[in-house]
Amino acid sequence: MTTRYRVEHALKTHRRDQFIEWIKGLLAVPFVLLSQPTAVHGDDKSSVDAMALNAHKRYAEIMKDVEGLIFDHIQQQKSDPRIASKLKLLVPSVGTFFTPLPLQDAFKFQDERRYISSRRFVAPSFNDVRLVLNTAQAMSLIRSSKLELVTFDGDVTLYDDGDVLRPDNPCISRILDLLRGGTSIAIVTAAGYTEAEKYYERLFGLLEAVAANDPDHDLEHKLVVMGGEANFMFAYSSRADHKLEPIPLDKWQLPEMQSWTEENVKALLDVAEAALKDCVTCLRLPVNVLRKKRAVGIYPEKGKSSTREQLEETVLVVQRTVEMSDAGKRIPFCAFNGGNDIFVDIGDKSLGVMACQQYLGGIHGSKTLHVGDQFLSAGANDFKGCTIAQPRRQHC
Ligand code: IMP
Ligand code: MG
Repeated sequence: MTTRYRVEHALKTHRRDQFIEWIKGLLAVPFVLLSQPTAVHGDDKSSVDAMALNAHKRYAEIMKDVEGLIFDHIQQQKSDPRIASKLKLLVPSVGTFFTPLPLQDAFKFQDERRYISSRRFVAPSFNDVRLVLNTAQAMSLIRSSKLELVTFDGDVTLYDDGDVLRPDNPCISRILDLLRGGTSIAIVTAAGYTEAEKYYERLFGLLEAVAANDPDHDLEHKLVVMGGEANFMFAYSSRADHKLEPIPLDKWQLPEMQSWTEENVKALLDVAEAALKDCVTCLRLPVNVLRKKRAVGIYPEKGKSSTREQLEETVLVVQRTVEMSDAGKRIPFCAFNGGNDIFVDIGDKSLGVMACQQYLGGIHGSKTLHVGDQFLSAGANDFKGCTIAQPRRQHC
C-alpha cells in the first residue's frame, strides 16, 4: 500500500458520502458563478438581494433535477436492477432508495432557515446538503403517511457517547408520539449485553416513560431493543423484569444467521482480537482489550486516549485483516470506530434492522427509517442500516 493510496483511499474516500459530495459539487457551480464577494453589504444591498434570489432559483432547479434522477433510479431498481441508472453511473456508490425524495421542497425549507442562497463566501456545504436530504426523507415519509418503524442508534444519537437515556431526554416525548400514532420503535445499538438489566440501565428514561403512558398495555412489544448490532433482542413489556423481555432466537433470527455457530463466531473474533492486539502494540495504544460473547473491542485505559488517526488506522487494519481471513468470509461482521473505542461485532445493523422488521410483522424498507450518527462507508456502524431502511443522518 503506497502512501498516496493510503491518503487517497484509506484516509479520504471512506470518510466521504459520495452522493452528498456530488450534490455539493453541482451546487458549487452556481455559487462560483453568482456569488458576489466584492459587493459591500449596505452599499450594494439590491445587488446582493438579487444574487440571493438568483442563487436560490438555481440551487432549487438543481435539487429538482437530482430529485428526477432519484426517481429514475428507483424505477430502474424496480424494472431491472442489473442495469445501472443514470444516477448510478454518475455516483457509482449510490445505494438503494426506497422512496422518492422531494429535494426541491426540502431545499426551500432549509434555505428559509439557513440562508444558504444569501451566502457570498461560503458555498453550500456538506452539512447543508445532509440537512436537505434529511428534511426530504422526513417530508417524503410524512406525505406518504407510511412510516411503520423507526429504528434508532443509541450512543451519539439518542444520548451522548457512553451516556444513558435519562427521563429529561427530549427524544422521549417524540418517541411516545410515534408509538401512540402506531409506529413501532427499535433501538438498534452496537452495545452488546446479554441481560435486560444492562439495557434498562442505559434506556430507563424511555422504558419508564412508556410504562407510565401505557395504562391499557397497547404498547407491549411495540418497542424493541436490538443489541450487539444484530445479536440480542428484547421487547418492552410492563410485566417483565426491567421492563424488557428477552425474545427467543427462533422468534426473530433471520435464516442467514444460521451460520453464526459458536465455532464460526469464535474463529472470527479470534482473528479480530489478534489484529486489534497487533495494532495496540504497533501504535502503542493506551487501551484495554475486551472480548465479549459476540464482539471484541478496545477501550481506553482510565484517563488516557488515542488520537483519531490511531483509531482510524486500527479500524481499517482490523477490517481488512478480518475481511481477508477465512473466518471473515463465513459470517458478516462490522468493525467500527466508536469515537473513543473500536469494536468488531458479529453481524451488522442491516441485519439488526431487518430482524426487527421481521419480528414486528414484516415491515418493508420503504416504511422504515433508521436514525443514526455513523454513516461513513467504512469504520461506521449505522451505514449498513441504510441498505434496508431509509437513512436519517444525525451527525456525519
Ligand atoms: P451505538 O452508537 O448505540 O451503536 O453504540 C456504540 C457504542 O457502544 C460503542 O462505541 C461502544 O462504546 C459501546 N459498546 C458496548 N458494548 C459493545 C459491543 O459489544 N459492541 C460494540 N459496541 C459496544
Ligand atoms: Mg452511534
